Formats: sequence, structure tokens, C-alpha cells
Amino acid sequence: MNDFMSAGVHRLWKDHLLASLSLPPTLQALSRSPPAGSPEQPLYAHLDVAGGTGDVSFRVFDELSDCLPSLRLPPSGGKAPQATVTVCDINPDMLRVGAERAVALYGADLVETLDEPPSPAKPLRFREGNAERLPFDPCSFDSYTIAFGLRNVTDPSRALRNALELLKPGGRLLVLEFSRPPNPLLSAAYDAYSFNVIPPLGAAVAGDEASYRYLVESIRKWDDQAQLTERMEDAGFQGVAHEDLAGGIVALHSGWKL
Ligand SMILES: C[S@@+](CC[C@H](N)C(=O)[O-])C[C@H]1O[C@@H](n2cnc3c(N)ncnc32)[C@H](O)[C@@H]1O
Repeated sequence: MNDFMSAGVHRLWKDHLLASLSLPPTLQALSRSPPAGSPEQPLYAHLDVAGGTGDVSFRVFDELSDCLPSLRLPPSGGKAPQATVTVCDINPDMLRVGAERAVALYGADLVETLDEPPSPAKPLRFREGNAERLPFDPCSFDSYTIAFGLRNVTDPSRALRNALELLKPGGRLLVLEFSRPPNPLLSAAYDAYSFNVIPPLGAAVAGDEASYRYLVESIRKWDDQAQLTERMEDAGFQGVAHEDLAGGIVALHSGWKL
């Protein structure tokens, strides 16, 4: 449905999210002067919340393993991987589909599925959790992404405060979410498309008109660019900025834990 509704453009938005993380220069810098810490700590740890079936996480994992090729090798001797990607979602069924995809892509040696005990040697991990209170230690991630998920969380401000807690100092949050096109002409065309095309498309493709009507309505009730900026600042993020994608139909917000 994501492909049908956006004519495949959601893939470009996710690619843009990945590019905005700037992983290659970050890893170069970290490899040159690794932070002091225990050898069990990965050089870089990423958390993708409301990660669903792994669309964003796989992009992050691919880029991390391009920079750190050892990440693709089967773990040896229980040694900690150089980087980790944790996919987290409240819905275990989504995660199980994601883990199956991950095993098919990368092999079972690299993937910790939902139904196995935590394995510190595996770099790609699937964990169930509610974004409002995730089951991880404070200050454990270098970056946190949430794509098309924050809007669905019951208390998004609480999720943002939790994100701040989980990030290391210097860590970065990226939120990809529907927003509001500032241009009135685009806004009118987008409304007409949303209300007249998406629910019937949901009925035809997914056999579920009601969920897609809810989707369209929930987007209208969600924060615009300025409101999400304020929400992130209120949660304690610094240097909050956003970039409009597709004329503001979607926005990518970024903030730092300093
Ligand atoms: C539209 S999907 C987005 C999936 C993925 N990020 C993507 O862009 O393809 C929204 C996801 O948010 C998850 N979700 C909703 N509420 C959540 C919460 N409180 N905590 C964690 N995940 C949540 C849903 O289970 C669903 O997988």
C-alpha cells in the first residue's frame, strides 16, 4: 500500500532519511578516534523505532556494513559487532515479517529474531517495545530514527523524551512523518487525492477502506512542521530543524542530544 499510495516515492523519502544520517563521515571519524569505553561496546549503535518490517533499518544496516565490511561476516567467538542496528516495534507480527526478510537478506548468523534470547554478537536485532518506554539502557544509541511512526504513538511527547534518554550525548534523532504542504494549491490537490483516492485504493488493494480513511484523517490531526519542532524542543532536543519533502506532504525533522 505504501508503494501504491505514494507511487513508490516513500522509498526516496527513506533514502533521504538515510543520507541525512551521514553515516560514512561519522564512522570514519569514530574509526579514527574510537570513544573510550568497554570493548564490548559497538563503535556505532542505531535504533529504528516503529520500524515495522525493517524498511529503514535495512537501509541503515546496508550503509553501516558498506563502511564496516566485517559487519557482514558471521560473528566469531561471541565478539561484539562493530556496529548494531536495533529494529523496534510495538507489533510483534510486523517484526516477525521483518526478521524473516532480514534472515533472507543477510543470513541467520547476523540476525537476532524476536523469538531467540539476546545475542550480543549479532549486529541486526529485532525487539518488541512501546516507543513511550523502550526496554533499553539510557545513553546507549548514537542515532534514533522513527519513520511514519511517531504520529501513531499514543503520547508522542513521551516517546520523544524517551528517545532523548536513550541517545548518547551527541546522538541524533530523525523523525520522518507526514506534515502540511505550505502551498495552498498543493494542499488542495493533496486533500482531494487523500480523501477521494486513498480510501478506495485501500479497499481495492488491501481490502480495508476504514484503516486508510483513518490514515488520511490522522494525518490532518497530526502536528505541522512548526508544532513538531516545538514538541521536539520541549522534549529537550537541541538544534531542531526540518526539511520539507514532496512540498511538505512529508517532513524530516532532526534534533540533537547535546
Ligand atoms: C506506518 S508503519 C511504519 C513502519 C516503518 N517505519 C516504515 O516506514 O516502513 C507504523 C508502525 O508504527 C508502529 N507503532 C505504532 N505505535 C507504536 C508504539 N507506541 N511504539 C512502537 N511502535 C509503534 C506500528 O506497529 C507500525 O509498525
